Amino acid sequence: MPVQVILGAQWGDEGKGKIVDMLSEQADIVARYQGGANAGHTVVIGDRQYVLHLIPSGMFHPHIICVIGNGTVIDPAALMSEIAQLEAAGIKVSGRLLISHNAHLIMPYHKLLDVIREQTSTKIGTTGRGIGPAYIDKFMRTGIRIVDLLDRDVLAAKLKTNIEEKNRILTRVYGESKIDVDAIIAEYEDFDKRIDEYVTNTAVYLNQAIAAGKSIIAEGAQGALLDVDHGTYPYVTSSNPTSGGACTGLGIPPTAITSIVGVVKAYSTRVGNGPFPTELHDGTGERLRTVGNEFGATTGRPRRCGWFDAVAMRHSVMVNGIEQVAVTKLDVLDGFDEIGICVAYEHRGKRLRHFPTDLRTLEDVTPVFEFFPGWKTPLSAAGRYEELPENARRYLEQMAEMTGTRLWVVSTGPRRDQTIAPPVGADQHR
Ligand code: IMP
Repeated sequence: MPVQVILGAQWGDEGKGKIVDMLSEQADIVARYQGGANAGHTVVIGDRQYVLHLIPSGMFHPHIICVIGNGTVIDPAALMSEIAQLEAAGIKVSGRLLISHNAHLIMPYHKLLDVIREQTSTKIGTTGRGIGPAYIDKFMRTGIRIVDLLDRDVLAAKLKTNIEEKNRILTRVYGESKIDVDAIIAEYEDFDKRIDEYVTNTAVYLNQAIAAGKSIIAEGAQGALLDVDHGTYPYVTSSNPTSGGACTGLGIPPTAITSIVGVVKAYSTRVGNGPFPTELHDGTGERLRTVGNEFGATTGRPRRCGWFDAVAMRHSVMVNGIEQVAVTKLDVLDGFDEIGICVAYEHRGKRLRHFPTDLRTLEDVTPVFEFFPGWKTPLSAAGRYEELPENARRYLEQMAEMTGTRLWVVSTGPRRDQTIAPPVGADQHR
């Protein structure tokens, strides 16, 4: 049935790439709805690993049409290099990629401002890809859109106005040197020729596809707890990875969405700054990072690690309408004697009923853990849910029960075949 939203339910890096790649087998279209090249979606096929930043993870199935929606912010240089890398690996992009003419462009000055602001104001720990400054311009109504690339005169005029304004900020506020207007105009005029074949009205395309009964995956980037409205603000990204973002970011109606899947890691990670109640600063956190190879796919930064947080997940389930979960990286827990789940937060002697919206409260909560016995055996041999060790099933079922969700996919390794596909059973908790 038409639109299935696949989104990260935690702080990103849940393994959405693998899940979207797997589901693409049965779909027609994969459409990315927000974010930019700050994302790193990893797909492993055979002995090759691909990391996609902007192009949807359905690209590895030749029948799939990939859409980059209006809600995204596009760095043309990063996009062109991603297309070139895929084509060099024998994956045909031409004729299979559609880019919304309403998506906004990331400019070199956005990346510069991103890096400078990190040094001079609140350190969010951004990826430095210019995401925040590009969305600022979008909402200031001064942004430059993909459609502007198609008209040289409009592009040159808009760029001139924007760069003059940025130069004033760079020189007066930050004491930096000026950006060369002409060099940027020349560079971006060149993208016009190269990007032309992909640009279209993707909202019309997607709505026609919905009417024709095509199966569409709306692919989120980052994660719900990094959502600018529902995440741990201000330590968030500048878009809406939550399910509502799929509608605004693609131009499709909420009524077209038929299911919402939360991709969730069997434990928690976060990259960048901001509150993380279940973070482990000890050897256990270090072990999760080493065994799980928890280093950013985009920036290579070590990720902060901790136990699964059912309180944060319940918030994510609520704001997204998640019914089903795809649990990833369960195999990382293979060697642990016991595995924790945070079941509640305590704050000044009181149990909190909801995930706090106030940052200071969230930074101050004490997580209450329940521990479950590990399974102490490699999961890779299990091909069916029933073949998972009893303690692994028990752990998964606790994750589902505590968050009011249904288990739908379990991933036990990065490869396509290391997946327990639906139905996995254990859906008795809803
Ligand atoms: P920005 O999106 O680069 O502005 O970064 C804002 C915050 O979101 C930072 O904490 C980043 O580390 C985080 N972030 C952005 N993209 C991703 C991602 O794909 N995975 C995990 N964290 C991300």
